[in-house]
Amino acid sequence: MPLVIAAVVISAAGVIFGFRLLRDVSVANLPTLPSSSTGNTEHLADSSKCGECHVQQYESYLQSGHARTFWSTRDFPLRNRFEHLKFDDPERNRTFHYRATKSGIDVSVPGLFDGDRFPLQFAFGSGDNAITLVTLTPDGTGIPVGIEHRVSWFSNMDQADLTPGQSGLAVQHDVEHFGRVIRGATLERCFECHTTACSIRGDKLIDLIPNVGCERCHSSSASHAAAMENDPESTIVGFKERPWRTAEQIHICAECHRGVNNVKSNQVRRDNHKIVRYQPVGLVQSKCYEKSKRLLCSTCHDPHQHAAKRTTREYELQCLACHSSSPQATRCGVSPNTGCVACHMPRVEIHPSISFHDHWIRIRGNLDPPVVEDEK
Ligand code: HEC
Ligand code: HEC
Ligand code: HEC
Ligand code: HEC
Ligand code: HEC
Ligand code: HEC
Ligand code: HEC
Repeated sequence: MPLVIAAVVISAAGVIFGFRLLRDVSVANLPTLPSSSTGNTEHLADSSKCGECHVQQYESYLQSGHARTFWSTRDFPLRNRFEHLKFDDPERNRTFHYRATKSGIDVSVPGLFDGDRFPLQFAFGSGDNAITLVTLTPDGTGIPVGIEHRVSWFSNMDQADLTPGQSGLAVQHDVEHFGRVIRGATLERCFECHTTACSIRGDKLIDLIPNVGCERCHSSSASHAAAMENDPESTIVGFKERPWRTAEQIHICAECHRGVNNVKSNQVRRDNHKIVRYQPVGLVQSKCYEKSKRLLCSTCHDPHQHAAKRTTREYELQCLACHSSSPQATRCGVSPNTGCVACHMPRVEIHPSISFHDHWIRIRGNLDPPVVEDEK
């Protein structure tokens, strides 16, 4: 189970190192994750609350990636992979030594800082593809910064490797031996995209509702939950509007999966494999979206279900709902009934161990990035 605590205060208070004070890190002052509920999140409902009435959505939601985006390193999938792990940095003649402790995971690098151990607090990602570890700590001036650890776990390779984007980075501050420093809005965004709610105050993470819960997509649903509890026989109350049912839906998903506003327009090219992971960007380039004026993420996905739980045939039936008898869309001359996904929205590799389905639905040619075969 993920960290299902309605509100906790996570503090790295014991960790008093700045960049130059790194030597102060020791086992004794590892950060802990207190389970006290002193956060101010009463205006938000926990997903399990919604699950009391919406049993079907809740149960399939628990299996989805959204229910598993954020963890404490005390309890996360693949924690055992870091226990006793040794990783040789391919670029810097150093070895990372990991250890699982009661408070989480920590790491040391023999030859550096007298072997003092660096705490790794949070685990990002479900582990379906990968897990990246992050530590929150004040810098030398007391301003909180995040350290995105240099090493991540990649499930498809079943091995550790450099975190994407960290290859070739030079070490300017001591702490960068352990990872990339992220600050300010960039740091806040990491937590915003992987949680339902939380804020960084000082060196603390407060008002935390981990993972992408019901409330994150269904705004104002806490007042709905309260109203329905008071009067279970009433018609649906508590929602001022229902943007998730309208074209607004794609913007909700794009807050995290990234939309056209999050990429430079010259990046939106059919040969650019880097935008493939941004499904909303691709989808709105598609003729299907432009011409039908009614294609949403939920046309093909149940947002409460893991995408891989649907069979490829179930997705193809969505294509055929438009591309068979409907007068507004044509039938495929090459294969009118099957194989649509493999030819028109195939998997494309964005990292040696991570691939995504290209949501820019189109007739593909030599210009397009090479595809990888679907395991299904
Ligand atoms: C006390 C029972 C109860 C609780 C708790 C509850 N709901 Fe509902 N909700 C209902 C009922 C009844 C309906 C109307 C019938 C239906 O569509 O299932 C409804 C409808 C909805 C709808 C559909 C609205 C639409 O667009 O048609 C959404 C979305 C929803 N609830 C989300 C939530 C979320 C999120 C929570 C938790 C914050 C929640 N509900 C908590 C009883 C509840
Ligand atoms: C608050 C940020 C956020 C929002 C909003 C969001 N997602 Fe996600 N989504 C994530 C993260 C983070 C993951 C990665 C989970 C993992 O590590 O596997 C993810 C994973 C997924 C996956 C793959 C895993 C699975 O369970 O199938 C699908 C599909 C998906 N999201 C669809 C959607 C759709 C559709 C919407 C809009 C209705 C949406 N997401 C809105 C953050 C978000
Ligand atoms: C703009 C929103 C956003 C931000 C900011 C963000 N993520 Fe994610 N993250 C996602 C979404 C959406 C997914 C799922 C689909 C994907 O991988 O793009 C995801 C997936 C992941 C995964 C699973 C592996 C993978 O690549 O699919 C890891 C690990 C991860 N994020 C770590 C981080 C870390 C660490 C940070 C901050 C340093 C961060 N993310 C910042 C939205 C975000
Ligand atoms: C990633 C965003 C996202 C999350 C998280 C999410 N929903 Fe939804 N939900 C949607 C969207 C989008 C729709 C509209 C689907 C449609 O119109 O086909 C929806 C529809 C619903 C409905 C209306 C009936 C239905 O299934 O279409 C209910 C009830 C509901 N959600 C409850 C929940 C509950 C309970 C949770 C948490 C366990 C939850 N949702 C989490 C995006 C989300
Ligand atoms: C909501 C309706 C709808 C859905 C669902 C849909 N499409 Fe389309 N699609 C259209 C329309 C409308 C067009 C433009 C008219 C045409 O070319 O048929 C189009 C165009 C296309 C084209 C031609 C693109 C080009 O650049 O010329 C391909 C290929 C295609 N769709 C494949 C698919 C596949 C594969 C799926 C399922 C994964 C799918 N479509 C789902 C409506 C839809
Ligand atoms: C025309 C159908 C269709 C539409 C519309 C669609 N998807 Fe998908 N999506 C798919 C298929 C097919 C897969 C592959 C599922 C599988 O077999 O694992 C997929 C997979 C995904 C995944 C898992 C990672 C990957 O790319 O393989 C994410 C995340 C995702 N979709 C997000 C979205 C979002 C966000 C939207 C709306 C902007 C959206 N999808 C709209 C068909 C669609
Ligand atoms: C073996 C690969 C393959 C499969 C499988 C396949 N297509 Fe195609 N499709 C193509 C190619 C190649 C073209 C371009 C043909 C041409 O230029 O004459 C095309 C063209 C199209 C077009 C544009 C038609 C036009 O006249 O503008 C649509 C729409 C389409 N496919 C939809 C689908 C759908 C829906 C499915 C699943 C039922 C599907 N395709 C399955 C390869 C495929």
